[in-house]
Amino acid sequence: KKRIVSGVQPTGTIHLGNYLGAIKNWIPLQNSYDTFFFIVDLHAITLPYDTQQLSRATKDTAAIYLASGVDTSKASVFVQSHVRAHVELMWLLSSATPIGWLNRMIQFKEKSRKAGDENVGVALLTYPVLMASDILLYQSDFVPVGEDQKQHLELTRELAERVNYLFGGRKWKKLGGRGGAIFKVPEPLIPPAGARVMSLTDGLSKMSKSAPSDQSRINLLDPKDVIANKIKRCKTDSFSGLEFDNPDRPECHNLLSIYQVITDRTKQEVAHECQDLSWGTFKPLLTEALIAHLHPIQVRHNEIMADPAYLDRVLAEGARKAADIADVTLNNLYQAMGFLRR
Ligand code: TYM
Repeated sequence: KKRIVSGVQPTGTIHLGNYLGAIKNWIPLQNSYDTFFFIVDLHAITLPYDTQQLSRATKDTAAIYLASGVDTSKASVFVQSHVRAHVELMWLLSSATPIGWLNRMIQFKEKSRKAGDENVGVALLTYPVLMASDILLYQSDFVPVGEDQKQHLELTRELAERVNYLFGGRKWKKLGGRGGAIFKVPEPLIPPAGARVMSLTDGLSKMSKSAPSDQSRINLLDPKDVIANKIKRCKTDSFSGLEFDNPDRPECHNLLSIYQVITDRTKQEVAHECQDLSWGTFKPLLTEALIAHLHPIQVRHNEIMADPAYLDRVLAEGARKAADIADVTLNNLYQAMGFLRR
């Protein structure tokens, strides 16, 4: 079976962008792939954070995975920090990562600009190396993510090729390696719609956990009345009719796209249904569709959170399965890099 890995940071609350760009797309993949879904808590400490909240947010995120349909009889669900190989591989990979590759990362540039130099830890720069470790440890074939992770995936691919070149090859084959490839070179899986969900208050900026205004995003756990209120107050325009792909109407494109993916329909169907609608007619439709989709997830989430022993068991089992695979990759690399065997 081909292998798939992906993860979400336990920072703030999971929003509709995380769900439509990533989590929702994981669900159908579980049937045909060997899947590993983790909560990337080690990534969540790269910006100043609240230590009181981290473990709660980690559990919450795991519960959201399960409530969204991640099935533990098929997928392994675990916490990144519970599998020590992630950090260990990161150190080995760091030695093969040119610093220029990291300086170029858009997310690093944006986040470090916002945080200011004094608050930028080294980990914010080396963050993509940890992400590469998350992926390469499992010899992953595909990584389902939103569009904003494309550059990180590109770096992961380049790093895999570089390590295969530096430490693989003939020397590695003599040691019993698989013909030069220490790492499989993974590919991103970016959905055709929902890969870049935009803010509700500005159709030109991405929906994000860190945006100061909560009005700008729908959180997966927002109660019905909050969802209704956010949609009622979200930014629109004064054109008549609704349409996709008009560059003068980014909000319109965004809201139609959300409607499309949340109702599992095609773009053509939605374009046709909505072409003559006014905002006054469309907004209640969108609100209803969002609530109908998210409410059952919220109910399951609460049930899962009410049974912490169950969640602990799932995460322990997931970490065990993950560690077995991760350790093989890590030990192979230690060997290929010339370390004394333990
Ligand atoms: P994170 O936690 O920022 O986001 C989790 C997932 O949600 C997607 N996403 C979006 N998709 C559509 N529209 C949006 N507005 C939006 N905002 C976020 C992200 O693309 C992502 O798929 N570095 C990663 C986490 C990570 C990871 C990994 C992912 C760490 N290691 C290994 C895959 C494989 C991150 O910070 O995602």
